Amino acid sequence: MLTFLCKFTVFHFLLISYWLLNYVKSEDKPNIPAIAKYFNTKGRYEEVNPYLTEDILAANGSILQPPSAKCQEMYLTAIIRHGTRYPTTKNIKEMQQLYNIAQHNASGQESWLREIQTQWTMWYTEDMDGRLVQKGVNDLKHLAVRLSKLFPSLISEEKLRGGFIQFITSSKHRCVNSTLSFKAGLTELWAITDKEFDHSVNDALMRFFDQCTRFVEEVDNNPSALSEMDKFKQGPEMRRVQQKIADRLNVSYIKITDDMAEAAFYLCAYEFAIKTVNSPWCRLFDEVDAQVMEYANDLKQFWKRGYGYDINSKSSCILFHDVFSRLDKAANASKSGQQVTEAVTVQIGHAETLLPLLTLLGFFEDSDALTSTNYATQTQRSFRTSHMLPYAANLVLVLYDCGGGDLRLQPLLNEKPVTFPGLTDQRASIPLYEDVREHYRELLQGCDFEAECQLFKSPAEV
Ligand SMILES: *[C@@H]1O[C@H](CO)[C@@H](O)[C@H](O)[C@H]1NC(C)=O
Ligand SMILES: *[C@@H]1O[C@H](CO)[C@@H](O)[C@H](O)[C@H]1NC(C)=O
Ligand SMILES: *[C@@H]1O[C@H](CO)[C@@H](O)[C@H](O)[C@H]1NC(C)=O
Ligand SMILES: *[C@@H]1O[C@H](CO)[C@@H](O)[C@H](O)[C@H]1NC(C)=O
Ligand SMILES: *[C@@H]1O[C@H](CO)[C@@H](O)[C@H](O)[C@H]1NC(C)=O
Repeated sequence: MLTFLCKFTVFHFLLISYWLLNYVKSEDKPNIPAIAKYFNTKGRYEEVNPYLTEDILAANGSILQPPSAKCQEMYLTAIIRHGTRYPTTKNIKEMQQLYNIAQHNASGQESWLREIQTQWTMWYTEDMDGRLVQKGVNDLKHLAVRLSKLFPSLISEEKLRGGFIQFITSSKHRCVNSTLSFKAGLTELWAITDKEFDHSVNDALMRFFDQCTRFVEEVDNNPSALSEMDKFKQGPEMRRVQQKIADRLNVSYIKITDDMAEAAFYLCAYEFAIKTVNSPWCRLFDEVDAQVMEYANDLKQFWKRGYGYDINSKSSCILFHDVFSRLDKAANASKSGQQVTEAVTVQIGHAETLLPLLTLLGFFEDSDALTSTNYATQTQRSFRTSHMLPYAANLVLVLYDCGGGDLRLQPLLNEKPVTFPGLTDQRASIPLYEDVREHYRELLQGCDFEAECQLFKSPAEV
């Protein structure tokens, strides 16, 4: 009887604790839309690293485990996407259209619809055109502080003051502003007021996609390059999402085109990313709908920047070689016992900068291509831009000197250690730098930007 009573009580205690835990959890984060993890490149960095919602400056150095205590970090390069930004003019026009439909044509008793119709105002204006928002300034400031905590001997006041940290940026305003914000994160951390630090603008490196003629002609300006995405947007999964939105607004199906569905998704995503609010627009989607929207966007990125076409990744050859030549320089200096003149390189660009490079390096490749017809079999795909490319997404490569010519290279994506795809033997520890070079030997010997990007290869090369 006593044991029964005990079990009974323990059971109830567990039940109540479980209920409390969930209650507290959902009460804790009332501002996070249930669909926030499906926002593709419009997602918050915090959704990729949820511990940051508790402490935005949390950095846990114990995730870094060099093979021995002798290993010293000697060089680091970070390729970073700009922070949270406003929508582009094109997106703002579509958002305005959907707002008009919700305002004038929708009807219903739901409180979220009343909120859209009576309280929410269309505050986005076309002149905002993709500029960095205040949240984006903070994204980069906070990232700078966390990286300095993870790599205190490299991202240090002494190295910054000594001119050992180089900053390179795309010319786009949101990137330059992100670069200033990253620097401000460091100078505010160390209360540096007597000195300013330069950065250089380099579109050849950070916006290589604009300068690769073959990519521009065959993919970027070629409407048929995105035919898989177009077919998916006309297909049954997407049509269902559009109909559900129309039903929720009580408007006719023809009013909610795929563009209007996208505008609704953007409204939910931007209100959240910029203002951290769970806006009434989010109520137009359930989780199943959001997964379909996520796939449509992943299809776009896959065919436009990822594995869809070989030239997408090859357009980043120039950045690939730039990264390895900096690593080589640091490696050489260390081997010959000289001081490394550049200890840290911070390069700030776009999702369109990072994705081709990640693809060239072999990250997030699935066995099958993403197509208009295999949504159902791609639910476990690794190619998920929501995970890879939120605002302030970053690829960091850290070169360690472990003594006696033993150099190792640790890649981190969004502050989490990852392994170079295909270099599986090394899973237990950080790979030797020479093994990484060997792994990418063909690219290091070829991958010539000029040759890859010319529109017509000369007969000798065909
Ligand atoms: C840091 O990470 C390690 C390993 O993942 C974990 O055991 C430890 O609790 C973490 N420390 C903090 C302060 O979060
Ligand atoms: C939608 O609203 C607009 C603006 O008020 C109006 O001109 C139009 O007739 C409405 N359409 C429908 C189908 O209600
Ligand atoms: C939906 O719209 C129709 C007219 O277009 C209207 O008669 C009906 O009452 C609306 N339903 C709701 C729930 O508001
Ligand atoms: C950067 O963006 C923020 C937020 O939009 C803005 O307040 C600030 O003026 C911008 N900084 C520069 C240097 O343009
Ligand atoms: C590094 O050293 C190797 C061989 O010693 C040399 O071929 C290469 O050009 C050097 N690279 C750089 C970037 O200094």
